[in-house]
Amino acid sequence: MELEHFVIACLVIFFSILIYIGIQKSKKSQQNKGEQTNNIKQEKKINNQDLLIPISIYFGSQQGTAARFANQLAEEGKEYGFITTEIDLNEIEFTSEMKQGKVGIFCMATHGEGEPTDNAKKFIDWLQQPQSSLIEYKFTVFGLGNRQYEHYNKIGKLTNELLEKQKAVRCYKYGEGDANSTLEDDFIDWKKDLWNELKISLKDLKKQKPESKENSESESESETEKQKPEDDDNKKRNNINSISGSSFRLVVNDNNQEINFDQAQGQFDFQTKQFLKAKYCQVISINQLRQNVQDGSTLHIILDTGREGIEYKTAMNLGVYPENDDQQILDIANYLQENLDTIYNLELLQQNNKAKLPFPSPLSVRKILKYFVDFNGQLMKNTIIKLSKITNDEKIKDQLIHLTTEEGKKEFQQIVDIQKITIFQLIQKNNIQLNLAQFIELCPRISPRLFTIASSNIKSPQYVEIADSLLFDDLPDGTQKIGLCSQYFLNIQKKLQQGESVKVRVDFRESSFKLPDDPNKSIVMIGPGTGVAPFIGFLQERQIFLQSQLQKHNEYILYFGCKHENGDFIYKDQLREFERTNIIDQFYTAFSRDQEKKVYVQDLLNKNSQWIYNKIKEDSIVIYICGSTNMGNSVQNLIKEILIEYGNQSPQEVEDKIQNMEKLKFLIKELW
Ligand SMILES: Cc1cc2nc3c(=O)[nH]c(=O)nc-3n(C[C@H](O)[C@H](O)[C@H](O)COP(=O)(O)OP(=O)(O)OC[C@H]3O[C@@H](n4cnc5c(N)ncnc54)[C@H](O)[C@@H]3O)c2cc1C
Ligand SMILES: Cc1cc2nc3c(=O)[nH]c(=O)nc-3n(C[C@H](O)[C@H](O)[C@H](O)COP(=O)(O)O)c2cc1C
Ligand SMILES: *[C@@H]1O[C@H](CO)[C@@H](O)[C@H](O)[C@H]1NC(C)=O
Ligand SMILES: *[C@@H]1O[C@H](CO)[C@@H](O)[C@H](O)[C@H]1NC(C)=O
Repeated sequence: MELEHFVIACLVIFFSILIYIGIQKSKKSQQNKGEQTNNIKQEKKINNQDLLIPISIYFGSQQGTAARFANQLAEEGKEYGFITTEIDLNEIEFTSEMKQGKVGIFCMATHGEGEPTDNAKKFIDWLQQPQSSLIEYKFTVFGLGNRQYEHYNKIGKLTNELLEKQKAVRCYKYGEGDANSTLEDDFIDWKKDLWNELKISLKDLKKQKPESKENSESESESETEKQKPEDDDNKKRNNINSISGSSFRLVVNDNNQEINFDQAQGQFDFQTKQFLKAKYCQVISINQLRQNVQDGSTLHIILDTGREGIEYKTAMNLGVYPENDDQQILDIANYLQENLDTIYNLELLQQNNKAKLPFPSPLSVRKILKYFVDFNGQLMKNTIIKLSKITNDEKIKDQLIHLTTEEGKKEFQQIVDIQKITIFQLIQKNNIQLNLAQFIELCPRISPRLFTIASSNIKSPQYVEIADSLLFDDLPDGTQKIGLCSQYFLNIQKKLQQGESVKVRVDFRESSFKLPDDPNKSIVMIGPGTGVAPFIGFLQERQIFLQSQLQKHNEYILYFGCKHENGDFIYKDQLREFERTNIIDQFYTAFSRDQEKKVYVQDLLNKNSQWIYNKIKEDSIVIYICGSTNMGNSVQNLIKEILIEYGNQSPQEVEDKIQNMEKLKFLIKELW
């Protein structure tokens, strides 16, 4: 113990000297962009060196937002003198990590219909059992959700309640955010007093032996390392990219050998881990599903999973890892003064065994920018703050910081929500000079886009089909911004037309859409637009079943809707053929704009309300709803109204009935 303290004290002194040298250096060479931030961070750290309390920051994340929040907390916590580590809930042994004397911050997203994210399933199961280790364990929770969903922030709330119930001790208030509108602001509000309150509430843990001695050592080592490139006035090109706050640097690799993703080893960011587990599939074809493309475009995409087949099940979700556009990549490389063919090694600056890399290397600038850097997505305030630390121009710095403040809220909404400005546009607009490593650090990883599989694994085990409704946002200047994955598939379509062979990286995820075993249930499928996708798979399966079976089981009823019968009626011929051959028993279509008064699927359902009520009452119906959250909510509200009207029940009884139907899988939704 004594020795421990002595070592720490030495480190503090050593550290201070380093900082001092750093400051002197920075005074000399003002042109070095990243350095200022470096110093700010280090000074803050030094003031709090006495607080060597380890805090684990766990995340339950599907698309990466919760992982980003956890990463942000880990970075901030370090500035306040804590030893923070962000941890994927899928990668730990709960009983040994969550116990008295330890501290956990949980960033928990809700997925599906009020379900845990894939990486938090095991944890939530564990948490629901009595766990004596949790007594006196210190925790706080931030939930990520979206108010458009029925079960708003269910997992954040549940995590918070279960930890409390298991007698863990709260060390900071519960918070949650709404991705429909104010998620990042909610997060910022919640964490305002987090670190200062933790300093107080964790005081008694202060005297504890720092959990990871190697942690604090490597910290100081990393600071030494960070100084190196800046120390050297004739900076060698191969060291230039070590920047403030990041845990890696880029070093030119002269062997000209890029990594094969299948052989990548080491620890990587949450999303990169998923990328590495995904597989390449050959694109067989991409065709237009609409009758005309006046109002938009829906592509039918067929992929080959390979002869041995990556096995999939009907109505599963396909995760697609989109790639950035080649022209954009070139523009960015030029701006960063990088050559697309330069191959870099990524080197960790901390020899900490928990440190992660953003992606595997050696890798060319081209591939780094193509696969791993999301420079098109929605800007976060935290990114703008980081960017403000890179520029030395005080005026621009102030402008950027202003955007992230309460006073700058209107302006932020204007450029982010309405103009949808990207990080690269913001950098260009302000003429901010930065290097590749800084750019990588500013941008998140690309997250996979999900698609509901529109084919049956029984009909075509080797081929997977999806229907992709391309996303175009209208901008105030009259131009359109196309979604990342939308652009990706459009580009691939062009390449196929030119005879090129193209592969896309994909993975498969479970979905809740499964057919019932009970042969007496009526299957009601409600899927306007691309929401019809999973039902194409269901119907293909039924076709095969009916060909081999004499007796007809179940009853299949489809509700479909779109704007025009002769416009965006996707799978029109196939669905009409299903109808003609009685694969579909009843087919209802709502073409909202083909007559004066708008008609939607819920209006057609309403016409059959008595029948629906009877079926629900007898428990002889399974209702599937797929498509937009808006549509799904309208349909569910209608079902509630029907139950109230015909069943003479109170709103509360109806609410309970709906919850019960969801639990028994008589009402299944997949909304996005
Ligand atoms: C479970 C599930 C199933 C799905 N199934 C299907 C399906 O079968 N068919 C289908 O077509 N789609 C489906 N989707 C939707 C699909 O995953 C994609 O979200 C959709 O295709 C758009 O992807 P994109 O990359 O083109 O758009 P993105 O680039 O992801 O853009 C999406 C939105 O993000 C915002 N945004 C993007 N960039 C910025 C910026 N710089 N600033 C501000 N805001 C920005 C905008 O609001 C934009 O409209 C499904 C989604 C889920 C979750
Ligand atoms: C398919 C899907 C289902 C979702 N279901 C819910 C839900 O039931 N309740 C909720 O509050 N939020 C729900 N959300 C919103 C997410 O929790 C929210 O977008 C969050 O920021 C995602 O975090 P992640 O990127 O870490 O996965 C859902 C989002 C998607 C894409
Ligand atoms: C979602 O956001 C939109 C636009 O910001 C808003 O109009 C709508 O009311 C929000 N929905 C919910 C359920 O909060
Ligand atoms: C389905 O209905 C038939 C006829 O009403 C009945 O004989 C059979 O037992 C039912 N099957 C199930 C699984 O309920």
